[in-house]
Order: sequence, then structure tokens, then C-alpha cells
Amino acid sequence: MSTEDITIHRGLSGVYFDRSATTFIDGKEGVLEYRGYNINELAVHSTFEETGYLLIHGELPTQAQLDEFTAELKAARELPEQIFDVIEIVKDSHPMDALRTAVSALASFDPDRNDNSIEATIHKGMRLTSQVPLIVMAHHNIRDGRDPIKPRDDLNHAGNFLYMMDGKEPSEQAIDLMDKDFVLHADHGSNASAFTARVVAGTAADIHGAVTAGIAALSGPSHGGAAENVMQMAREIGKPENAAAYVQNLLSNRQRVMGFGHRVYKAEDPRAGHLREGVKNLSAEMGQPEWYLILEAVVKAMQPYARRGIHVNVDFFAGVIYYLNGVPQDLFVPIFAVGRIPGWTIQVVEQFEHNILIRPLLKYTGDRELKYVPISERG
Ligand SMILES: CC(C)(COP(=O)(O)OP(=O)(O)OC[C@H]1O[C@@H](n2cnc3c(N)ncnc32)[C@H](O)[C@@H]1OP(=O)(O)O)[C@@H](O)C(=O)NCCC(=O)NCCS
Repeated sequence: MSTEDITIHRGLSGVYFDRSATTFIDGKEGVLEYRGYNINELAVHSTFEETGYLLIHGELPTQAQLDEFTAELKAARELPEQIFDVIEIVKDSHPMDALRTAVSALASFDPDRNDNSIEATIHKGMRLTSQVPLIVMAHHNIRDGRDPIKPRDDLNHAGNFLYMMDGKEPSEQAIDLMDKDFVLHADHGSNASAFTARVVAGTAADIHGAVTAGIAALSGPSHGGAAENVMQMAREIGKPENAAAYVQNLLSNRQRVMGFGHRVYKAEDPRAGHLREGVKNLSAEMGQPEWYLILEAVVKAMQPYARRGIHVNVDFFAGVIYYLNGVPQDLFVPIFAVGRIPGWTIQVVEQFEHNILIRPLLKYTGDRELKYVPISERG
């Protein structure tokens, strides 16, 4: 084939690179399903633990299966002492950098570290599901000069996560919203971080390497970082009546409005609506309804862009929920990572099940066949 005939799919946009039986997305209609179950059903009726089981095992659990799964997750709520030392060393870095470093270090301590079988990978993924929240909150406390807060096994995944932030009993409403947020973030097809995890798994490297790389990919503002930026934007806007001018100013400077647009969804992100209600109720209950009003004013200002397929995405409403729960802004992306571990786990498992090295091509555009000039002769 002549190089002139090469079609380049920049960003691999629109390219199918494999098959998956985990997550279905229809970006045009705004549909998301895990293992055939619509996210709208799961967000309302399921829990993070049940959704994790569904993603990893392919079907909804019986009560006994769910109990066993939950018990394994709870039993894994501990970190080796050395991981706290690692966190101490990197305590001044962004929480995502600290998380990436600690997850990488955890590989050395995992009892299945030399076993890349499907079964061991699932157990490692489950341990990571429980350990990642511990790392995020240990770093949060250590950097502020406090001791990490010990996990509680009478709380579910979401409740324990919130509890470990400051040792205060989270409200039922806060736990339910956090749980819903984790369900909504549990998987999302071959987005940048899951694809990265698959590329690593494709070389037959282990799940700790794949998740470490996934965390690195998630940390950028084009992927996971948007919730943090949305909160920043809401603070800068300050009052709902400032939103239209603020948005106009961004757009006329060809800047992006954070929490809008998606590579796949050209309709509204089906996850966003569930969090919209959460922001509305929580901000009213906490006597701070202005946050919801500011966000809705931004949505209104972005209305003309809806015709071009630019709608709110999952990150748009998430940030304010975290903020109202007292979560520091730089923990917003780590929360995304906490929810995403079951998704990365099953994507690594799927990759291992039919493994192939992922190795696309680049069309070369540089010079060719140049003559090597010794350094003494170069001008
Ligand atoms: C998510 C995102 C990276 C997807 O990008 P993409 O699929 O590569 O789409 P493109 O970057 O090609 O954008 C297509 C067009 O829509 C515009 N656009 C996309 N997102 C936009 C946004 N948030 N605000 C304003 N304009 C936007 C682009 O400027 C571009 O316009 P142009 O064709 O006139 O140049 C992009 O929408 C974005 O940066 N959003 C803000 C960050 C964010 O919320 N990320 C979280 C994703 S879950």
C-alpha cells in the first residue's frame, strides 16, 4: 500500500479494536448498559458492590453470592505498613500521583503477585477495589498531618470511603449519593484509561501495572479531571446571573466549558441526570441552592451547543456533590478512580481471555535517508 492510501484515525476515534461483553454504549441515543442492564435501572436499584459483581462475573448475584463478594471486599480493607511509608514519601504530590505510586508499590505485596491467571487477576482486582479508597484517604490525612483513619467493616464501600475522610459518621443521604456515583462510574467501555489498561494487559503485564497506567491516563483534565475544573468554574462564576457572560467569555476565547462534550455521547450523557437530581436535593437541603442554580445557568448558556452534540457529561454535576460532602477539590478525580476499579478489572480480564498485543501504526511524516554527519562537521 502506498503511504498516500493510508487513512489516519486520529485519536483512534470511531475505531473498533476488539469485542467486549461488558459495557454497551449508544452515544447517539445516550444509552449505557453494564452486562445488558440499563444504567438508569442500576443507578436507582443497585449498589456499588452488586454492580461490581455484575461487571466482574457477568450476571446479577444471588444474595449468597453478593454476601460472599462483599465479605471478600471488606476483608481486603487493609494496606501493608510499607504503603503508608510510600504515601508519606509522596505526600506533597497531587492525590492522583500519590495513588498511582501507591498502587504500583502494592504489586510487590500482593499474595498473587506472580500469578496472572484469570482467577488471581479477579482477586487482585477485588483487593485493589478495596485498597484504592484506603490509599486515597490515607494520603488525604497524612498530607494534612493526621493519622490515617482505620476502615470500618460495618459500613458499605461508599460509607466507609466517606468515613475515612474525617472519621465522622456520614449521613445516609451522603452515602447513597456516593454509592450512586460509584455505580455510574464503574465502567465505560474503551475510554482512555481503560484502553491504556488494556494496552498494558495486552503485553501480558499484570493488573497492578494496568491499573497504575489507567490511573495515569485518568488524571488528565480531558478524561477524569473535569469534575475538579467544573467546581473551580462554579466558584469563579459565583452567582447564577454571572454564568452566561462567563460561558460566553470562555467560548469566544475558544476555550472549553468543563463538564460538557464527550467523545462518544452526542446526546446527554445518561449518567449526568442521576447526579443532577443529587445536586438539586443536596444543595437545597444544605441551604446552598446557589450551586445547583449556577450549574443550571451554565447548562442554559450552553444550550446553543446542544445542537452540535455538546451536552453535559457525568463530570458536570459530580463535582458539586463532592464539594457539598466536604471533599477537597483535588480528591474529585481519585473518587472517579475509586469507582472505576471494577471496570478496569474486567477489562484486563477480558483482554487476558483473548489476549493480543495492541500495536497500531503511525504514518511517518519526517525526513528519510539522510546522511549521518559527524558532530565536528555540523554547523
Ligand atoms: C471530552 C472531550 C475531550 C471530547 O473531545 P472530542 O471528542 O475529541 O471532541 P473535539 O475536541 O474534537 O471537539 C469537537 C468540537 O466541539 C467543541 N467542543 C467540545 N467540547 C467542548 C466544550 N466542553 N466546550 C466547548 N466546546 C467544545 C470543540 O471546540 C470542537 O469544536 P470545533 O469543531 O469548532 O473545533 C471534549 O468535549 C472536552 O474537552 N470537554 C471538556 C472536558 C470534559 O468535560 N471532560 C470530561 C469528559 S467525560
